[in-house]
Amino acid sequence: KCEVDGRNEDEEQHRHTQQKCIATLALFCCSAVLMVLIFSSVDIWGDSEDGITEENCSRDCRIVLAENIPDDLSLHVDGRHHIPLSVGFQSLLEQAKLSVEVVSSVWDLNAWDLEPTPGTAAQGQLLFQRLLRLKSRGVKLKIASSLTNSSELKALAAHNAQVRFVNMTALTKGGLHSSFWIVDRTHIYIGSAEMDWRSLSKRKELGVVVYNCSCLALDLHRVFSFYWQLHDRDYIPSIWSKRVTALYGKHEALELQLNTTPATAYLSVRNALFYDQKLYCMLMS
Ligand SMILES: *[C@@H]1O[C@H](CO)[C@@H](O)[C@H](O)[C@H]1NC(C)=O
Ligand SMILES: *[C@@H]1O[C@H](CO)[C@@H](O)[C@H](O)[C@H]1NC(C)=O
Ligand SMILES: *[C@@H]1O[C@H](CO)[C@@H](O)[C@H](O)[C@H]1NC(C)=O
Ligand SMILES: *[C@@H]1O[C@H](CO)[C@@H](O)[C@H](O)[C@H]1NC(C)=O
Repeated sequence: KCEVDGRNEDEEQHRHTQQKCIATLALFCCSAVLMVLIFSSVDIWGDSEDGITEENCSRDCRIVLAENIPDDLSLHVDGRHHIPLSVGFQSLLEQAKLSVEVVSSVWDLNAWDLEPTPGTAAQGQLLFQRLLRLKSRGVKLKIASSLTNSSELKALAAHNAQVRFVNMTALTKGGLHSSFWIVDRTHIYIGSAEMDWRSLSKRKELGVVVYNCSCLALDLHRVFSFYWQLHDRDYIPSIWSKRVTALYGKHEALELQLNTTPATAYLSVRNALFYDQKLYCMLMS
């Protein structure tokens, strides 16, 4: 606090105090500018990572391939650990206790435009209903999307989902084409399927569901945070927080157990922001 009371001081002292005041004010302005800069960068303070850190995250993971084979295609099934995609999503939602975070470029689980709804669309509808019911279980649903006028996102938002719009057109002149889930920061899904009823019935889709893998989920959550923090921005900030930088990469891959087999893994969002490509999961045993 600067107070100048010239009446009881001589001229010299007065000037001195004034200088001090100006210096303090300048310092205050500088720190204010600095604070603004810090807060405007991406996720400096971030949201909490639930106390899971690189040191105590789980790397004893279970992985299953989740695929959708088109209804009208009969394929030889070799009896290995493949599960239908709809079962994979259902099991992830059953695990959820705290949060479900979803990135998908399409939200078309209900075949609104098809009357009457064909049987093939039932899985999509079921998944949508399950997402709506997360609210009653106290599970947070967060969705990052580049859709501006999706009736499904509006319906989910009305049921407590937090939906953030990412303007990929402004950011990269592209679209948001990643497709993944993070459940309780512990279980993840990465794959080709969008939140589209066709992905659960008519299309060939392939993905992985990885359970009990909070180490890998830490990095996928950073990708999610990255999109989450870009909401309503029309430029990509040049200052980045360490909290959105990947922990693991090609040269420092995560060492983990996948179905009790030693493996290394890292996530790569290969140029997703700049070349509009999908998010791939690189798994190397
Ligand atoms: C992991 O470690 C952090 C700090 O090192 C701690 O706050 C947190 O509770 C730990 N989490 C678990 C699940 O042990
Ligand atoms: C948004 O969607 C609704 C129906 O889904 C449509 O009636 C409306 O015109 C759309 N608005 C815009 C701005 O596209
Ligand atoms: C997204 O960004 C583009 C390009 O800057 C702009 O024309 C468009 O209006 C933005 N969309 C929304 C929904 O803000
Ligand atoms: C995760 O690990 C716990 C403890 O090892 C186990 O009880 C649980 O069944 C696992 N969850 C899944 C989905 O594999």
